[in-house]
Amino acid sequence: MMEYIGATGAPVTFDPVPIQEGIDFHFILGFAIDANISGNAQNGKFSPYWAETLTPDSVAAIKARHSNVKVLASLAGWSLQDKVIRWYDPTDPHLWISNAFSSLKSLETTYHLDGIDIDYEIFHTQSNYTTFAFCIGELITLLKNQSVISIATIAPYHLTVVPYIELFKDYNNVIDYVNHQFYTDKVLTPLLYLDDYKIRAVQFDKNKLLPSYEVNGRGIQGHAFFATLSLLEQNGFQVNGVMIYSADASIAAANNFYYERKSQDFLLNTTHV
Ligand SMILES: *[C@@H]1O[C@H](CO)[C@@H](O)[C@H](O)[C@H]1NC(C)=O
Ligand SMILES: *[C@@H]1O[C@H](CO)[C@@H](O)[C@H](O)[C@H]1NC(C)=O
Ligand SMILES: *[C@@H]1O[C@H](CO)[C@@H](O)[C@H](O)[C@H]1NC(C)=O
Repeated sequence: MMEYIGATGAPVTFDPVPIQEGIDFHFILGFAIDANISGNAQNGKFSPYWAETLTPDSVAAIKARHSNVKVLASLAGWSLQDKVIRWYDPTDPHLWISNAFSSLKSLETTYHLDGIDIDYEIFHTQSNYTTFAFCIGELITLLKNQSVISIATIAPYHLTVVPYIELFKDYNNVIDYVNHQFYTDKVLTPLLYLDDYKIRAVQFDKNKLLPSYEVNGRGIQGHAFFATLSLLEQNGFQVNGVMIYSADASIAAANNFYYERKSQDFLLNTTHV
């Protein structure tokens, strides 16, 4: 289970989110950004911009309470206040990787984190993205090699699959899960979701791909999402997890975390796998 948290800036906490035994539950903090507070790139020096309520102590506390919880920092996201965050090609890729490694090592240690998620969403062009795969792939490799992180995920969406396919092709050995943002594909029925899933499963790896859901957002909504999970399994896909965007929306929706509960019920129900 993967759930983004902290990206809206609302004072959210981990505490109300239901976490079931027997599920590897990953909170993904949105976002750590290679930018200063004015939104200017810092050559690989990442700073935390998730909700200030998600403190190092609160991460330690939720992990102490649930041994099955892991917490990741997601890199980049869409924007910092009104400044959009783009992938830019650093003039010295090795320096960028070194800066990113040091700043993320410090962040992972301070916040007791277990991994990173890659969520760069804006590229200069779709066909000429140059150093993204190299910089990010080498960064993940180094963070894993030095045991700074144990898990790495990527979050492509339909307009960014090209650079992410290149990253995944060269570095899939250090990438654990693909949190494809199916909701941005805006498929509204289980059958269309299945068709889309088949495409993403070929672009990435069907065993690492996770179906995803945006609470009160784009794409398939409500019970149809769970019908989709069953349909995926009937078509030979093993549903190894679910990504939900986001805890902030579920807290605001005050629906008693319907999608989080039902997703975990689905994943724990072994009668259909
Ligand atoms: C942000 O970075 C830019 C460029 O590095 C710099 O000119 C600016 O003063 C910085 N702003 C803050 C608030 O540190
Ligand atoms: C880190 O990289 C070195 C050199 O390639 C390798 O020998 C070592 O086994 C790696 N360690 C881990 C934990 O991956
Ligand atoms: C588990 O899945 C099966 C098959 O889809 C379903 O019939 C059953 O009701 C589910 N059990 C629970 C506890 O959700």
